[in-house]
Amino acid sequence: MKPSERLNVTVVGTGYVGLTTALALAYLGHRLQCVDKNPEIVEKLDRGISTIYEQGLEELLTDTRNQISFNGSLPECLDQNTDVLIIAVGTPSKENGDTDLCYVEEVAREIGRNLLPEKPLVVVNKSTVPVGTARRVDTVIREELERRQVEGKFSVTSNPEFLREGSALHDTLYPDRIVVGSEEVWSVNILRQMYAPILSQDFTPPRAVPRPESMGLPALVTTTPTSAELLKYTANAFLAAKISFINEIAGLAEKVGADIKEVARGVGLDHRIGSAFLNAGAGWGGSCFPKDTRSLLHTARQYGYEMPLTSAAVEVNRRQRMKIIEKLQESLKVIRGSTIGILGLSFKPNTDDIRESPAIEVMGELLELGARVKAYDPVAMDKYRNTYPEQDINYAASVEETAQNSDALVLLTDWEQFIHAPWKDIAPTMRHPIFIDGRNLLQPESMRQWGYQYLGIGRPTGSGFINSLNIT
Ligand code: UDX
Ligand code: UDX
Repeated sequence: MKPSERLNVTVVGTGYVGLTTALALAYLGHRLQCVDKNPEIVEKLDRGISTIYEQGLEELLTDTRNQISFNGSLPECLDQNTDVLIIAVGTPSKENGDTDLCYVEEVAREIGRNLLPEKPLVVVNKSTVPVGTARRVDTVIREELERRQVEGKFSVTSNPEFLREGSALHDTLYPDRIVVGSEEVWSVNILRQMYAPILSQDFTPPRAVPRPESMGLPALVTTTPTSAELLKYTANAFLAAKISFINEIAGLAEKVGADIKEVARGVGLDHRIGSAFLNAGAGWGGSCFPKDTRSLLHTARQYGYEMPLTSAAVEVNRRQRMKIIEKLQESLKVIRGSTIGILGLSFKPNTDDIRESPAIEVMGELLELGARVKAYDPVAMDKYRNTYPEQDINYAASVEETAQNSDALVLLTDWEQFIHAPWKDIAPTMRHPIFIDGRNLLQPESMRQWGYQYLGIGRPTGSGFINSLNIT
């Protein structure tokens, strides 16, 4: 990157979104300063230790050491001629489904208190925030400037992220599109400059995050802040609904004796539908889909507008968790006193994030029903233990240890490691080799051959004669 193209970027909030964004921008050549209110996070990042589990992050922490600092304060950063300030602080759900914007507003207030009058600043809302938040941030900054009786030049833009945990750096460096919602051309141009290497894909990929072979150039979608805000929620609600839809069909597949994997494959080959996000299972979790569908429904309620499709997607997802319990009840009959082994605590593979993971509800319900619960996850056990100390769980050191003397195993996260476990040898070590595959990860035929009573989601139980569709 030529020095003239280099921007000074400040990122506030170094969670999954903020840290990934900051490291990607530093890697592309910008100068980054990060601010986080949590001193433990700052201290670790400062020492080059990643605070989250994400492919390629530690390598980028090392590679970008001279381009990025983590121990900044917001007033200092604004003092040092920041061009772009990215807000990536948490936006948790309130009880009523509304989004809690207190952290975002706190950052806006601090910007207003410290903005240099002579230096234009692009303020980027990167956190997922309800419609109207760009305007709210603008108002809060303006209020503070008025209090100081100074004029400042700034532009609040909505620039939502679409990164998936587990492939966060990949999605940031090789996105389908970059969305910039702004009322002003100058701020769009600054963001165009900030994202130029991504838009033109003319950077050398980091070793740990190679560029996909068939990649086209990402589109730059410029629109109003309001449309950008709604666009983000629409994307997440649509994906959540797509998963819920296939889960709903999976329930019917169980009744009629069809195999949802074959149905989904045949359906997904229609390019209008697409094969992604058609995996039936224990349902969606994470920091986005649950929170964002709740927030969208809350916004709709504020306008007296019903959204039956989004509501149904949420309801189907809730039901999906309980399906796991029903399957255990059907196969075990009595849950009280049984030992159930849970495989997978993170809400999806390749991350240690447990937010709204199916394991929380499933294990909570099993404990309520009087089961003994053992659990294993390749990376998320410490996080789970610290977050839910009240759940009386026996944490195991391996898949084998989880299975030993268990009455049933339940797989809730599709970690690749689980595909390669020595299932044949494990079956005889269980008290009852009942296997509920909540992600349809394993081969039913092989599992049954090795003696398991194997139950997937939306798949034939193996008792009847089923013709395979054999779609090629
Ligand atoms: C968060 C939002 O939850 C999500 O909706 C949004 O799209 C992006 O930001 P995530 O990065 O996963 O997602 O959040 P989290 O991992 O909780 O990180 C937030 C970070 O902000 C934490 O490191 C926290 O310490 C920091 N923070 C929070 C601040 O620095 N200041 C604050 O006032 C609040
Ligand atoms: C999501 C969006 O994909 C991303 O664009 C957005 O910015 C943040 O939210 P993330 O929550 O990290 O990303 O994970 P994602 O891969 O979308 O999976 C979400 C949940 O859906 C996981 O619990 C996953 O297990 C589940 N899922 C996904 C299914 O149950 N079936 C599928 O076919 C795909």
